[in-house]
Amino acid sequence: MTLRSPESAARGPARRFPTRRRSARGALAAVLVAAAGAVALAQPAFMRNMYTGPVVLPQVDPRVPVEDTIAVDGDRQRDRLESRDLPNPVPDTPAVLAEGKWMYDVYCAMCHGPEGLGDGQIAGHYPRMPSLAARHVQNNYTDGWIFSIIGDGGFRMPPFAHSMSADERWALVRYVKTFTTPE
Ligand code: HEC
Repeated sequence: MTLRSPESAARGPARRFPTRRRSARGALAAVLVAAAGAVALAQPAFMRNMYTGPVVLPQVDPRVPVEDTIAVDGDRQRDRLESRDLPNPVPDTPAVLAEGKWMYDVYCAMCHGPEGLGDGQIAGHYPRMPSLAARHVQNNYTDGWIFSIIGDGGFRMPPFAHSMSADERWALVRYVKTFTTPE
């Protein structure tokens, strides 16, 4: 039992935690919070979280492969001459043509025009927008040649090798070969 003076009795029941102890606890808590904050900011190697790890973050370009290398399952790189005689590996079927048309409408029509006649919405911004129905394209360009143009682009035409899979590009070649010049 605590001995209490008449004055302290008048102040009411004794406090559970004397003020001095309480401020010591507060200081300890502050030190702990500061220490945790410092550790969180410093991010020591053993505490790496997902954000600081070697991940590709949203809105950041994917890492490019090392120069002169290709992915194990990647396409072999061929120049236009090497591609010229490649056989088209996808069949000439309505399903493939429909896929090719889908690709064409998404990636090509704004420049080469909905029917391939060189009159797409932004064609006017280019000094020359070729018609894909032109005789030299339809008669002289092999499937492999057109496949190579689609993948690598040209002087002004952008490359599309990374926008479509190889099979999608071959299907697109099939579709390009259906364009005809209106009589
Ligand atoms: C941004 C506009 C643009 C887009 C999109 C575009 N092209 Fe082209 N394309 C051109 C231009 C311009 C040329 C003429 C060569 C050059 O300057 O690159 C060309 C040339 C070509 C040629 C050769 C024509 C010739 O007479 O030799 C083919 C074939 C072709 N494009 C097919 C396609 C296909 C298929 C697509 C869709 C994947 C496509 N292009 C998307 C602008 C474009």
